[in-house]
Amino acid sequence: MADVTMRIWRGDATGGDFENYTISQNEGEVVLDVVHRIQATEAPDLACRWNCKAGKCGSCSVEINGKPRLMCMTRMDQLPEGPVTVTPMKRSLLSATS
Ligand code: FES
Repeated sequence: MADVTMRIWRGDATGGDFENYTISQNEGEVVLDVVHRIQATEAPDLACRWNCKAGKCGSCSVEINGKPRLMCMTRMDQLPEGPVTVTPMKRSLLSATS
């Protein structure tokens, strides 16, 4: 399969920015597989939460191309061609004000 560019938000409480990683993808992979390969090969300091890899725990929740998704359940081959954007989940208005 062709390489894919992953645009991953890297930051902390004071701010951040997108970082691009162009990496191979394999048949049948989910976004979490690709993020783990980026950790293993290019960015060992990239933080990524996950637990079950079965769509049960919700730990791997992020926004993929602007939509809330589970990284472990989002197949790479079902995303549109082009860069794949991965950002943290936006906080709800309720949690931001309480
Ligand atoms: S790792 Fe548990 S839902 Fe994705």
